[in-house]
Amino acid sequence: MATATEDAGGPRRSAKAWSGRLAADTNPTLERYTSSLEWDRQLAAQDIQGSLAHSVALHRSGLIDAATKESILSGLTQVAVELRDDSFEFLPSDEDIHMAVERRLTELAGEPGARLHTGRSRNDQVAVDLRLWARSECLRLAGAAIDLQEVLLRRAREERRTLLPGYTHMQRAQPVTLGHHLLAYVEMLNRDVDRIKDCHRRADSSPLGAGALAGTTLPIDRRATAAALGFSAVTSNSLDAVSDRDFVAELTFCCALLAVHLSRLAEDLIIWNTREFSFVTLPDSWATGSSLMPQKKNPDVLELVRGRSSVPLASLVGLLAMLKGLPLSYNRDLQEDKRHLFAATEVTETSLSALSGLLNEIRFARRRMASAAADPELLATDLAEQLVAAGMPFRTAHERVGAAVRSAGELNLRLDRLVAQRWREIGLPADPGQCGLFDPRRSLARREQPGAPGPRAVAAAIRRAATLIRRSRGWIAAESQRQPPPPASSGSA
Ligand code: ARG
Repeated sequence: MATATEDAGGPRRSAKAWSGRLAADTNPTLERYTSSLEWDRQLAAQDIQGSLAHSVALHRSGLIDAATKESILSGLTQVAVELRDDSFEFLPSDEDIHMAVERRLTELAGEPGARLHTGRSRNDQVAVDLRLWARSECLRLAGAAIDLQEVLLRRAREERRTLLPGYTHMQRAQPVTLGHHLLAYVEMLNRDVDRIKDCHRRADSSPLGAGALAGTTLPIDRRATAAALGFSAVTSNSLDAVSDRDFVAELTFCCALLAVHLSRLAEDLIIWNTREFSFVTLPDSWATGSSLMPQKKNPDVLELVRGRSSVPLASLVGLLAMLKGLPLSYNRDLQEDKRHLFAATEVTETSLSALSGLLNEIRFARRRMASAAADPELLATDLAEQLVAAGMPFRTAHERVGAAVRSAGELNLRLDRLVAQRWREIGLPADPGQCGLFDPRRSLARREQPGAPGPRAVAAAIRRAATLIRRSRGWIAAESQRQPPPPASSGSA
């Protein structure tokens, strides 16, 4: 249990960093209510990294001697080991990860532990911890998004010739290929990775040295600690430094939009997996059954990807609501940022990896897709464009083809058959069926503008996606180099 210490006011139930100011023991309900340990114990490694850099800076500025620095460094390394192998004992009085680490350090190192917090506040400390965490989370999240991009790209390559009806309003519209459809998600994920890079850039400034809100009178070298922690810059305003959570909101937004993309992909696959569509078959290892109906094979993973996407959305709203009324600078409300951020990132990362696994193995029913794409009505627009090529105003062409589709429906005739009978009446120079107008492959071959579903355009899109993926991987590799080493291996850094 908590070690009672003697201070000017006599022995107290639990020692608090701020117990000098308050005459009464802390109420246990307050202790439980205000604790952030449930969330911020996830920041333990970053907290120790920050303290290692800070203690080195304290020594360089002459604020602690070499022996003090060394015992802080080895004490912190010991704390890191205990945290890593789960032997660290948290106390109810610890309040948050910062106090837990400092308390244990002081138990291990004695008086030097009491010097660690020189020139620092938990307000700049938690901000630096969270920025370090956000930076590495950006790399993990981008890595998981790129993994999914790679699976999608591989499947798109395999399915670049697989015909598929493209839909608008969930009605068959025009033919595309499955490859083109899958590449649409590669593009979305590419923008997601871009947004994560952007968020990383804004998280990449060190707030250490901003103190509680107004810096410190002690000679702390902010640039040195920033460099030691691999930050590109120091924050420019101490009030902003301790109260800015834009990077948390941005990262949560990145998760929210990413999760929305995943949810849309899951929804496509859920629809395709219905007996009515039968465009995909889930491998048994990625499906679930029913406890009651013996015949069922359910797409629960996809439904959970869709359902859990609500978590990052809720986190984003929660965060913005928490932030919007806060006066400068630090307020305890800010402590609540972590539950939102951690929930959003956890769901997004696990959904990314579940979808990657499932997409890796899902089977596409090529013949079923191709026969749906062979519906001649999907080429009604091609027919109207043929009339335009022959000189007819588009509105007239649209009207004529629309009437032909209507007649075909009334006569229960396929559109290509009706057109073969009435091409003169419609205004065509010849039966378009003869020159393959109703062949979806030929239709695709006429669509080769950039971004279109034609085979050459899709081949170019595949090359572009591969290049973008390679660049994103390169960015992750370069940024990982700048991360500070994990605390338990940094010794007397
Ligand atoms: N646990 C707090 C948080 O997460 C740390 C900062 C507390 N600062 C303070 N002055 N009470 O924000």
